Amino acid sequence: MKKLKKITLHSRLYSYPVYIGYKTPLKKLSSILKTLHLGPHFVVITAPAISRLYGASLQKCFSPTVKVDQIFISDKEKDKNIDAVQKIISHLLQLRAHRKTCLVAFGGGVIGDMTGFVASIYMRGMPFIAIPTTLLSQVDSSLGGKCGVNTREGKNLVGSFYPPRAIFSDSSFLKTLPQEQYQSGLAEVIKYAIIDNQKLWNTLHTHHSQILKRVPSILEKIIVSSVLTKKKFIEQDEKDFSKRQILNFGHTIGHALEAHATYRGITHGEAIAQGMYVAADLSLQKKLCHPKTAQQIHSLLEKYGFLKQDLPTNISSYISRDKKRGTWILMKDLWKPQRVPIPPEVF
Ligand code: GLY
Repeated sequence: MKKLKKITLHSRLYSYPVYIGYKTPLKKLSSILKTLHLGPHFVVITAPAISRLYGASLQKCFSPTVKVDQIFISDKEKDKNIDAVQKIISHLLQLRAHRKTCLVAFGGGVIGDMTGFVASIYMRGMPFIAIPTTLLSQVDSSLGGKCGVNTREGKNLVGSFYPPRAIFSDSSFLKTLPQEQYQSGLAEVIKYAIIDNQKLWNTLHTHHSQILKRVPSILEKIIVSSVLTKKKFIEQDEKDFSKRQILNFGHTIGHALEAHATYRGITHGEAIAQGMYVAADLSLQKKLCHPKTAQQIHSLLEKYGFLKQDLPTNISSYISRDKKRGTWILMKDLWKPQRVPIPPEVF
């Protein structure tokens, strides 16, 4: 697998490339950074475990003429908060980072969300690039500029829209990803397959065992397909007022479950998988879809190990804090989503 795939995403601030491949994106890191006029000071924001596995090989990908500092943070969802942002900012000030310093988000969704948010506010904005190391961040969170932190009241309630200057999605990082993190990313892939992508839906059915075995060629296929689906939605509605909300399929309940669990003991993928079960059931209850559609959604979730569970009884207070204010994404059929207003009291 020697190919390097490039997909360009367009935002109101600038267009930015997503490089996808197996070991190839990082080989090009130094020359691409030069072309983008980024550097010569980089600060890599990462977690100790990621640095232990890949820190030395990342360091070798930078040109010897640039300065590379590191800041370690927790990559746990429970630690994605404003205190952690404040600590990163203090550290950047100690390192004398300035508006031309380029941050490098090296890790999964939590690292990417916090790095992007800091980049958007530090000295009123500095560049950052993303090197996502989890399936979830490669297919979803690194794309489209959403960044921010959680509060006790809810998920991602503070943040900005601030895209990276480039994304380097290297699927070789997924070899060492813990199974629950890999499965968490698959939930977002399943979401794209349900809301919009028939080809991906077919791939998830026909290549099930290769996907579970993380075969590089199939990983590249599902990452590219997911990025192209996300591109379609974010480019039409970057600020999430209309079409982009379709990407929220399964997330109304998903975010509520994560906040209810205080961001512990449940992965984002598990939470949105439960959300997709509920959204499919609700689509059926509202007579929007045929029972077969709900059944097909259920069986794809089951095929990838997401089993339906009961919701906690007090979930509605968390649902009412959702940023989309009661807009649910339901399904009329596979690949035919619809935005529907539903009051939180329904739960
Ligand atoms: N993850 C949903 C979005 O980026 O809008």
